[in-house]
Amino acid sequence: MGKARRPLVAGNWKMHKTTAEATDLSQRVSYEYSQDYDGVDVVLCPPFTDLRSVRVVLGFDRSDIQLGAQDVYWEDAGAFTGAISPVMLKELGCAYCIVGHSERRERFGETDATVNAKVRALIAHRITPIVCCGESLAVREEGRALEFATAQVRAALDGTPADASVVVAYEPIWSIGTGHTPTPEQADEVCAAIRAAVAQLHGHDAAEKTRVLYGGSMKPANVAQFAPMPHIDGGLIGAAALDAFDFIHIVKAFAC
Ligand code: PGA
Repeated sequence: MGKARRPLVAGNWKMHKTTAEATDLSQRVSYEYSQDYDGVDVVLCPPFTDLRSVRVVLGFDRSDIQLGAQDVYWEDAGAFTGAISPVMLKELGCAYCIVGHSERRERFGETDATVNAKVRALIAHRITPIVCCGESLAVREEGRALEFATAQVRAALDGTPADASVVVAYEPIWSIGTGHTPTPEQADEVCAAIRAAVAQLHGHDAAEKTRVLYGGSMKPANVAQFAPMPHIDGGLIGAAALDAFDFIHIVKAFAC
């Protein structure tokens, strides 16, 4: 039996890849990607400075792979030095944008309120937010992982229309870049709780359509454990997205 929702695998390149390197990596990913995986949405999220070159590569290859950004500001234009607007992302062909990654929450002062403003702005411009949530190790050890992640999702989606296209990524902070992961059952339990929180906010139908990804040290060696879980609809991939073979291996696992 296939997945209940069309899986989505997004590569979060973080602050990696110069323009030349991004061109090379996107060419490799595009080459490795085949129509066999057309049951999966595949998204590349390079740094802002690489969006245009990756767009050119994907356009040249007439690839179905889609483009995403890693952050956005909520205003359309104005005196906001250093910021990038949803209008700019839309013009570059971004269909998705990561919001509220724990690295941005921890290092750049992102709060539930700014995440919500960004989510609303993206929805207004028909860019699908990939809303990140997830607990620290201390919160998990206190037994509050579900409560913490669902509270972040409720805050992020506050005031958004029920029919908006939104993706949520559950990324426990202690598993990002560490090689440690929750068990597939633990990850699935949080993803199910996130779906229940979306159902409370926006109703059952919206929740059934919302894709909930798992992220945090997902790689070729462990993806086969996560991919069959009923509430895990794909992955947000960091380190393994920087290698075309590894990334496509993960895409393939969700295509089965
Ligand atoms: P990782 O990062 O796969 O390198 O753990 C995932 C993420 O931060 O999105």
